[in-house]
Amino acid sequence: MPDLDGCEMEEINDALRSGWVTTGPKTKQFEKEFAAYVGAKHAIAVNSCTAAMHLALDAVGVQRGDEVITTPYTFAATAEVIRYFDARPVFVDVDPLYLNINPDLIERAITPKTKAIIPVHLAGLPVELDAIREVATRRGIPVIEDSAHAFPASYKGKHIGSISEFTCFSFYATKTITTGEGGMITTDNAEWAERCRIMSLHGIDKNAWKRYTSEGKWYYEIIAPGYKYNMTDIAAAMGLAQLRKAEKMRARRRAIAMQYNEAFRTYDAVQLPADRSDCDHAWHLYMLRLHLHHFIDRAHVMEMLKHRGIGASVHFIPLHMHPYYREQYHCTAQDFPVARAEYLREISLPIYSRMSDEDVAQVIAAVIDVLAKHGC
Ligand SMILES: Cc1ncc(COP(=O)(O)O)c(C=O)c1O
Repeated sequence: MPDLDGCEMEEINDALRSGWVTTGPKTKQFEKEFAAYVGAKHAIAVNSCTAAMHLALDAVGVQRGDEVITTPYTFAATAEVIRYFDARPVFVDVDPLYLNINPDLIERAITPKTKAIIPVHLAGLPVELDAIREVATRRGIPVIEDSAHAFPASYKGKHIGSISEFTCFSFYATKTITTGEGGMITTDNAEWAERCRIMSLHGIDKNAWKRYTSEGKWYYEIIAPGYKYNMTDIAAAMGLAQLRKAEKMRARRRAIAMQYNEAFRTYDAVQLPADRSDCDHAWHLYMLRLHLHHFIDRAHVMEMLKHRGIGASVHFIPLHMHPYYREQYHCTAQDFPVARAEYLREISLPIYSRMSDEDVAQVIAAVIDVLAKHGC
């Protein structure tokens, strides 16, 4: 549930009153404030994180037949953007504690065809960026962080969004800050930023008129077959209001996660989500893991929670287990055993900043009741 109050309406009304509803001054302002927030030189607002990752892969020059290393433990978008180029997603299994891509396994997956690495900050917990960036830099491979879950978050004192060649964010309805649908690309590289900007709007270079002609502002040149990925000023207005509350909303998510941790920590039948003392977790998801021998199965636990009015979910069915990847790459379920095993015992409890203390107490009571019914 999005965390909205009068501030979004004020900003949106401002945009509507101005008459500028698509990409314009609000989008520029949102980009500027977002870049300043995370400490990046450039921010390009787009209409989804999927679009952001597509543009980042284009900017680093991914082409047909290339390979891009990523995790199977993620949402569809992370690998589908690689397929847009007819390139190959090369999955690397996850670390059993953090559920993020296992940095120790990355180097052996690199080939001369590897053009990028896309790590995912699953649930909002930053990946081990030092280790990933060490291999990537040594091998000359750009890192594109899938930060759909990780805003605001930080790694060893640095904001996520200020570290790698590219970082891609999502402002989808369930994210910490939302614009309904939306995304942001951050980078410190001016040339790549310009390429993303141009490709986000039909491959049109609006600066061409300045360089090549004395014609008026109507002149433009198409330099590549681009996409229609621009953010509207209505969405950006919402984003501006949300950005100002981002830290407060993250703090609320964290407080809920800490309450859950406190309530469940004494139960051997469950494993609490991982955290790291050197990172700020965005707590987009609260991923509890069941020790399955205590239960009939996960579906039964989900059903019992549902009967108690709690909508738990599962994140994510690893990509290599889906029909498309099974058929396209002949993956078997066992190919990435850690991702598979952890997915089979994961449940995500409700977590969003608008949750009241009563909502949180209800979730805790329901989980404890289900555990008690299993003799835990
Ligand atoms: C890990 C991950 N990456 C990318 C995306 C895509 O984000 P968007 O819906 O903004 O395209 C999602 C969506 O939730 C996601 O979970």
